[in-house]
Formats: sequence, C-alpha cells, structure tokens
Amino acid sequence: MNAEIPSNSRIRRRSWAEPWKVKVVEPIRMTSRTEREAAIREAGYNTFLLRSEDVYIDLLTDSGTSAMSDSQWAGMMLGDEAYAGSRNFFHLERTIQDHYGYRFVVPTHQGRGAENILARIMIKPGDVVPGNMYFTTTRLHQELAGATFMDIIVREAHDPTCELPFKGNVDLDALAALIERVGADRIPYISLAATVNMAGGQPVSMANAREVHELAARHGIKVMLDATRAVENAYFIQQREPGYASKPVAEILREFCSYTDGCTMSGKKDALVNIGGWLALNDGNLYEEASNLVVVYEGLHTYGGMAGRDMEAMARGIVESVADDHIRARVGQVEYLGRKLIDAGVPVVRPIGGHAVYLDAKAFYPHLDQEQFPAQALAAYLYEDSGLRAMERGIVSAGRDPETGRHRHPALELVRLTIPRRVYTQAHMDLTAESVVAVHEERMTARGLRLVHEPRYLRFFQARFERL
Ligand code: F0G
Repeated sequence: MNAEIPSNSRIRRRSWAEPWKVKVVEPIRMTSRTEREAAIREAGYNTFLLRSEDVYIDLLTDSGTSAMSDSQWAGMMLGDEAYAGSRNFFHLERTIQDHYGYRFVVPTHQGRGAENILARIMIKPGDVVPGNMYFTTTRLHQELAGATFMDIIVREAHDPTCELPFKGNVDLDALAALIERVGADRIPYISLAATVNMAGGQPVSMANAREVHELAARHGIKVMLDATRAVENAYFIQQREPGYASKPVAEILREFCSYTDGCTMSGKKDALVNIGGWLALNDGNLYEEASNLVVVYEGLHTYGGMAGRDMEAMARGIVESVADDHIRARVGQVEYLGRKLIDAGVPVVRPIGGHAVYLDAKAFYPHLDQEQFPAQALAAYLYEDSGLRAMERGIVSAGRDPETGRHRHPALELVRLTIPRRVYTQAHMDLTAESVVAVHEERMTARGLRLVHEPRYLRFFQARFERL
C-alpha cells in the first residue's frame, strides 16, 4: 500500500521512478525551424490551432492525453455497448462511490458536460458563485446559467513567487464576508477546485476544505468540488499536511471529498482516460433533476455520452490513479522539470504544481505590456525553438468582463507546460528544459502579439494573433 513515502517534495533522488514499463510506442517527429515558423504563423500564433503532427513534445494539456494501461486497454474489449443499463456503467458507478464517496453518479462525456448540468440545476439568474479562482469552462457555465463568479482564493495565490504549501486554499474571511454581503439564498453553491489549475496547480489543504464545509453548512450552502485533479491534491496533502504522511492517497481523497456535497469531474485528467467525466451528488432530489437533464444534453443516465468501453477504461483508471506509487511518479516528474527550470533561473510559479510547470511570462518578458499577450507570445517562441507545444494561461484565457466588455487583467500571466500522465520520458523533460532555457536567454528580443480574431466563447481556444 504505502511502504515508503518521501519525507519532502524536493525530489533530488530518483525515488519517484515510474511504476510501469513501456509496451507500445507512438512515433513523434522533429521538424525544422523554418517549418515551425510557418506552422505557428499559419496557426495565428495560437498553439491550439497547430496540427498535432507538427508538434514534437506536446505539453498543451494533460487532458485526455494520458497513456492507458494494459488493464485499461483490456477493459476496452469488455465494453457492453447496450444503450441502457450497460454493465460498465454499474462498474464505474461503484468505483466512483468507493473511491470518491458520493452516493449518486451521473455520467457525462467530459468535465464541462457535468458543469453544464450542475449549473442548470442549481443556479438561478442573479446568483453568486464563490470559488477558489476561476476555471474557464466552469465559470462560463455558471455565467451562462445567470450567476456571477466571485474569486475567494487566498491572496497569495496571485503571487507566483510565494512559496506557501496550500496556495489553492479558500480565504475564509473573504467567503464569510461575501455570504454576509449577498446573503446565503443567492449562493447556490461554493465552487471548490482541488489543485487549482489557473493558480499553477496549487493544492487545497484538508483543514481548509473542512473549514469551508463547516462555514457553508452553517449557512445551508452546498460545496461542489471540481474533482478533476483531486488525486493530485490528495498527494500534496500526504506530502505537506501534518497528520497525513502515513495515510494512503486513496484514504485522503475520500476524506477530502467527504467535506463536499458533490463533484464535477473531468476523467480526462486524474482518471487516466482519453474521454469521460461525471457529476456526483449526495442529495437525492438534485440527483433526480440531474439524471433527467443529462438525457437532454449528454445521453441516457447510464452512459452520458460515453461508450461502454470508455466507462470500463475510466473505472479501471480511477483505481490506478489513487495508487501511491503512481501518483508519486506522476507529480515527481512534474517536480523534476520544475526543479531544472528553477535551477536555471527561469521564472516559474512556486511551489511547482501537480500537473504542470507554469512559466511566469510577466517576469520572463518584463518589457511586454499585458495587452501585448506576453504568455501567448512566449508559447509561440517555445514552439518555434523546439516544436514544444505549451498553452497560454493569462489575459487571453481570462477573456472579457461580460458587463464592461473589457479584457480581464489577471495577476497571473502564465505559460503552462502540462505533463500528460505516463507519456513522456525524463529525456523529453530534459529537452523541454533546454528549450525553455534557450528561449529565456533570448528574452529581451521577444516581441508581443496583436489580437486579430476573437471568438465569443472561451476565446483562447480559437483566437488568432499577429506578431508585432
Ligand atoms: N475543471 C478543471 C480544473 C479543468 O482543468 C478542466 C479542463 C475542466 C474542469 C473541464 O473539463 O475539459 O473535460 O470538459 N481542463 C483542460 C485543461 C481543458 O487543459 O486544463 P473537460
């Protein structure tokens, strides 16, 4: 179960070596610099618009990009593709109940499918949803349902250099003040994210989750967890929070979820599958509504947009995801890359997060104004240098304020080097670090970008730019 746990997270020895070996490989190709310059120009300097074929190391996202195990692939052959009541659904339902602890499960095609259903059944126009920093799709579904999102993450989360262990925590005073100001009846739920993506993959402590739950319960407000990377969060609790060092990650995960009333989940991250998600709830009435509405948007309540085989792969992936040796190797690889960059003097968000290393583009390119999209520009330079694909997480991702129509200016202007699970080797991480260091050395000659095409929703996915 949990024989040896490293006593701190600064991994210098290779104590996190992967608990698997490679069985199948997929070729990747290094292109020439001229080819890459043409490809990124044609992609409007947006890494989402590149062809995957033209990418050498793909650190765009950890979403749906993980490698499945032989057991998961074997499970794919056991898909029960009945329209209703698939055997794989019941296996998945039981696995989620066992590992996350919620009573009811509504399957969805991915995380945002669950976010849509949750927002529609719980939010009424004029509501306020507090959360520990926004996530793009989560906030958009809350807004489309008529709510306003309010950020209640601790202040330190906005400072990339601050080394606190739990920078994803909720600021309890800010939450209490917000409840006081707008009234509990206008707060349908608190949106609590585990390892906060937009803050750099920073975890929430168990103590904080418990206190959020207590405060919310005193006002009759529910807490809904974004469990997308809750296993990674549980690992950080094991490593950093007093009292948890000898507890298995699986047990920590269950306790963490017990302080919440339900969750939305993108199975494409922690759960080690290429597609899938769910909404879990403890309240029977909410479940009734959700399992009815899912039929409108996703599919019947026993498949929710997934094939039987997808549900089987996810059930098996959940079990693998909570194994201590798996999660230690997974986060260990991210820390390995982060440490290399820190040692080379590259500005990154500290401490290193669970799923990605985040470059601090404001510190990287101090000569660029935020409206020249420094993080977007940096991601393009990285691609030109080595075929490395990263993602902007700054002013472009933040979008526009729906009331004023102006750019939101987040304090964090970041480029995310996101590590897929069980996919890349240590040599790939070394090459990634070399490329980032090379681009950092040429930082003073970097130019910003101009926005030339801006879609209405989640603009970062499809926006186009030109180099200034
Ligand atoms: N919540 C978090 C914290 C996420 O990171 C994501 C997706 C979602 C919800 C939505 O899930 O993609 O399955 O619909 N994040 C991906 C990323 C896209 O690259 O960070 P989804």
